Amino acid sequence: MRRKIAAANWKMHKTPTEARDFFAGFKKEIPNIPQTCDVIFFVPALILGAVAEVAAPFAFGPQNIYHEKEGAFTGENSPVVAEVMGCTYTLVGHSERRQLFKEDDALISRKVAFASESRLTPMLCVGETLKERDAGRTNEVISQQLTRGLSEIQAGRPFMIAYEPVWAIGTGKVATPEQAEEAHAFLRSELARVKGGEVAEKTPILYGGSVKPDNAPSLVAQPNIDGFLVGGASLKPQDFAAIVNTLR
Ligand code: PGA
Repeated sequence: MRRKIAAANWKMHKTPTEARDFFAGFKKEIPNIPQTCDVIFFVPALILGAVAEVAAPFAFGPQNIYHEKEGAFTGENSPVVAEVMGCTYTLVGHSERRQLFKEDDALISRKVAFASESRLTPMLCVGETLKERDAGRTNEVISQQLTRGLSEIQAGRPFMIAYEPVWAIGTGKVATPEQAEEAHAFLRSELARVKGGEVAEKTPILYGGSVKPDNAPSLVAQPNIDGFLVGGASLKPQDFAAIVNTLR
């Protein structure tokens, strides 16, 4: 039985003070790590210090990471520093990184591999655009993102997958449980093909895209949906706590 995962993606939101206030409120609702579910916060790099002071017992990490320890890489996030700050996870290849910052599968693959070697569990994000879905290309697109994104990670290193259809992100348009399950089952079969059945069985595949407390229960009832990557609804302690509570 895979553990469920609730992950927050704060994107470029919250000051250090707002982050501290969030955790004060969230811990009133969820004081400890739930028995059946891990909770992870992906926060802006500039507030990792503030989050590190108050996040325990919950895990946290950056939303993007570079594939070198240090050097002349102006503006990038070092995985070594992230680890020293207490980060245990990182997002890689979020659709906003792919679309706005032109990250491609080759770069994402390097980031996934390097993060995992730095003991940051990468959460690789994949997902099709509406145009790709309408053209019947969903499986082709997400298979390519998955297999290329995982092409350099060493065998045995842990990782997670987040399936986030681009058309559902921040739009209020959530995938139906059937649409999401179809993609998740396909991704799990692709994982089995490229990494073996054991890896496919134990790797969490999260759904993301307009997850809210009211649509979470029907999504997580699907056999291949292991939890959520939540943007907008993770900014309010009560809403995110309500989503965590659907995974208990
Ligand atoms: P959303 O964002 O929940 O606001 O749709 C999800 C994400 O981009 O990770």
